[in-house]
Amino acid sequence: MLEVDHIAKTFFSDKGDTDAIENISIDVKENEFLVLLGPGQCGKSTFLNIIAGLVKPTSGTIKLDGKPITGTDPRIAMVFQKTGLYEWKTAMQNAELGLKYRKVSKAERREIAQKYLDLVGLHGFENAYPHALSGGMKQRVGIARAYTANPEILLMDEPFGALDAQTRYAMEEEILRIWNAEKRTIIFVTNNIEEAITLGDRVIQFTERPATVKKIYDLSSLARPRSQVSPEFLRIRQEIASNEELTLE
Ligand SMILES: Nc1ncnc2c1ncn2[C@@H]1O[C@H](COP(=O)(O)OP(=O)(O)OP(=O)(O)O)[C@@H](O)[C@H]1O
Ligand SMILES: [Mg+2]
Repeated sequence: MLEVDHIAKTFFSDKGDTDAIENISIDVKENEFLVLLGPGQCGKSTFLNIIAGLVKPTSGTIKLDGKPITGTDPRIAMVFQKTGLYEWKTAMQNAELGLKYRKVSKAERREIAQKYLDLVGLHGFENAYPHALSGGMKQRVGIARAYTANPEILLMDEPFGALDAQTRYAMEEEILRIWNAEKRTIIFVTNNIEEAITLGDRVIQFTERPATVKKIYDLSSLARPRSQVSPEFLRIRQEIASNEELTLE
């Protein structure tokens, strides 16, 4: 449904040019949980921002359902690396922003946002402001906001990267529960190998910058929930890790 065809991105500046993305082509399937795994600073956010229409590629095309995407598109919603919530708006008001630019009545907006706040487990916290929510709860609001926009594709940019390990495991289980309840195509970026194997139908491993596809792992036959200590999990972990470029600083 989403065809990424030979995407490249170079940032030009007086201090020199930065090649962020080099020749990435990916076909994403409907309702697939696709994980993009790559090292820090390799160009992951740039790549998601290109799909979201927020950054223009230097070359290449992206098509959704056969039609080229040239800017932001209501069929694609983003959950950001930092939550991107408005501090002066409540959880409900933040979630409703998913529908801000649609012609949807206030009552209907509220009803849809409530449905997704309930789905992400925030019933009772509708009127809380972000400063009164934990890191995990803030990411839940971000997920509810993305779902409220009713997109075909959800882009998630290291949504759990800033959480402590315990909360991160919990949120990994949560995102699978939410995705099972409301199937969408998810493109999920992470730099964490265990998270990638826990979540993905497929894991696409990126190289160091400039990011390009290094290897694709098809995990669709690996049953969920996936134990991180099962022999199969550990075997895949070993395989992916042996393929990672380790940079010692
Ligand atoms: N707007 C911009 N102008 C110039 N350079 C940029 C811009 N955005 C990103 N870059 C550069 O492109 C490269 C890739 O950045 P990007 O944020 O995509 O990486 P990332 O893999 O998401 O990193 P992280 O792991 O820190 O989230 C970096 O070298 C960054 O400095
Ligand atoms: Mg990033």
